[in-house]
Amino acid sequence: MKEDIEKILIEEEEIKEKTKEIGKRMTHEYKDSFPLVIGVLKGAMPFMADLTRAIHAHLEIDFMDVSSYGDKTVSSGEVKIVKDLDSSVKDRDIIIVEDIIDSGLTLSYLVSLFHHRQANSVKIVTLLDKPEGRRADIVPDIVGFTVPDEFVVGFGLDYAERYRNLPYIGILKPEIYRGS
Ligand code: XMP
Ligand code: MG
Repeated sequence: MKEDIEKILIEEEEIKEKTKEIGKRMTHEYKDSFPLVIGVLKGAMPFMADLTRAIHAHLEIDFMDVSSYGDKTVSSGEVKIVKDLDSSVKDRDIIIVEDIIDSGLTLSYLVSLFHHRQANSVKIVTLLDKPEGRRADIVPDIVGFTVPDEFVVGFGLDYAERYRNLPYIGILKPEIYRGS
């Protein structure tokens, strides 16, 4: 698995530190509002688990699975709900937790959906932001790290369902996704 990684971009320790810092900030922001924290499956899973434990306030957890990628490394722009929420977002303060924002198309869809379902507020927290990939007008409220316009894997992020369990963020060797 490690031999497929060209370069480590963000070490495990840096992710841990950053997550604690974000959790501390969110503890203050949400101490009285019982937010509904929504993790976008599957990529946000590790960040969601660490972040929610770093927020020392009451909150509710839910997950949504949307897909736009398949096994490709370029967004199709199409968003499909694979698993919807269990809870209602009506009148709730929503925090969407993402692994990465690239084109922003997934989040643009989710933000509109939650507004349409009459959420009280919708905020976005993402571990990674790839601003060069942006095609929709989405600005995250909290960003862990800004990454260059390269395909990254690890800490929830996959290529063809692999590498999600790497404890760091790395750049995949191009020959892996070129299949040579
Ligand atoms: P959009 O383009 O809608 O994409 O902002 C969001 C989703 O696309 C996936 N994505 C990536 N996955 N490495 C990955 O493993 C990447 O570099 C990458 N860029 C986008 C990811 O699932 C994200 O939630
Ligand atoms: Mg994702």
